Amino acid sequence: MPAKSKTPAKSAKTKATAPAGSNAALLARREAAVARGVASAAPIFAARAENAELWDVEGKRYIDFAGGIAVLNTGHRHPGVIAAAKAQEDLYTHTSFQVVPYEPYVALAEKLNALAPGDFAKKSLLVTTGAEAVENAVKIARAYTRRPGVIAFSAGYHGRTLLTLGLTGKVTPYKKDVGPFPGDIWRAPFPDARNGITVDDALKALDTLMKTDADPDRVAAIILEPVLGEGGYHPVPTEMWQALRAICDKHGILLIADEIQSGFARTGAWFAIEHSGVVPDLITVAKSMAGGYPIAGVIGRAEVMDALAPGGLGGTYGGNPVACAAALAAIEAIETEGLLARSTAMGESLRARFADMGARVAPFRMWDIRGLGAMLAVEFVTDFDSATPDATLTKAVVANALKRGLILLGCGMHGNAVRIMVPITASDEIVAEGMAIFEAALAEAIAAEQKLAAE
Ligand SMILES: Cc1ncc(COP(=O)(O)O)c(C=O)c1O
Repeated sequence: MPAKSKTPAKSAKTKATAPAGSNAALLARREAAVARGVASAAPIFAARAENAELWDVEGKRYIDFAGGIAVLNTGHRHPGVIAAAKAQEDLYTHTSFQVVPYEPYVALAEKLNALAPGDFAKKSLLVTTGAEAVENAVKIARAYTRRPGVIAFSAGYHGRTLLTLGLTGKVTPYKKDVGPFPGDIWRAPFPDARNGITVDDALKALDTLMKTDADPDRVAAIILEPVLGEGGYHPVPTEMWQALRAICDKHGILLIADEIQSGFARTGAWFAIEHSGVVPDLITVAKSMAGGYPIAGVIGRAEVMDALAPGGLGGTYGGNPVACAAALAAIEAIETEGLLARSTAMGESLRARFADMGARVAPFRMWDIRGLGAMLAVEFVTDFDSATPDATLTKAVVANALKRGLILLGCGMHGNAVRIMVPITASDEIVAEGMAIFEAALAEAIAAEQKLAAE
């Protein structure tokens, strides 16, 4: 569906005097009213958005390669998603599923059960946020196995609540000053070729962990993102998944795939773990499941999902009916618009474009182009010999791109990667325009560096 270029009907003309609706005036209000800990990557305020384009309150147009942090695989305001949400709003917007249940919740659970890998009976739970989905996956795993322990991985990101922060493997900014975190959580190294940790190394470390601290008989679950999200878009190698499945089977541990960022067409599959052929016991979902509406869930083996007694799961807003209707429509759009195949094709063309850009515009600085399908990141270094992460260059590229009308988001443990989360529904023209801006932003950053070096 090609995106149309429209500007908002009303927009402030200049920000020089910071008029009431300008980015500068809103930033000042935001700084005074909003807690400092809530950071925003772009110092602009949204006025409206359509598919892969966004306009700020001053009428400036941006191409959106961030997709609200991987929420918009079907684009801003997908017509089917908006129509379904509006139709649901005309009926009822909230009853609480725990008080008076409704069909869209059941229909979404049925759909998720059918989409998730695994030739066995499945059941689903719906909640509101990704962190809540992860919390519930752990609760379910503990109740089913009657064990307390969870093993997570370095550089993993699972949310900002206290349990999920315990699972998240990055201190700054997420875990700084807010501990202690819940006990019975252990961390194993992620097999990251970039940092010289092979699958073999990671498995040896896991084996050591299970001998020294994490008694496998006390471990309920192993949780892992199939492609590290915040951690830098590193895909989990297939041999790692296979080994983890075998370890879980040997010790009666449940395998949880956190697909919150990687699900729903981002990698060219419904779920990124499908690329490995390994079937997890539980899957956590959120983000692009509903094209911009807050809903999340846990999908899993029926007998595992039924471990808690009635009342043990839920929440007032969990599986909101408007968000359920939006999710069913977003899933339908992925099916009818062939977005899985489009994601794969988009990923291939973006890779080729980045390889060409890196060689021409920033020789020996674009160290890695990695990911799965259209879940792609590029990493910048000071030089190929030392491969030292270059967060300064990365920040400059992101800032230059914003100035030129492209929204980008970084990722990675060293802040030196840029991840691409452009809607899969974006037209080829819009993606090409965004990539041209990326290239110009990179060229500008390299030129500024060279100028500084010459001074
Ligand atoms: C893999 C993964 N898990 C969990 C979360 C937490 O989701 P939320 O921010 O909706 O709580 C995220 C969010 O970025 C994520 O990428």
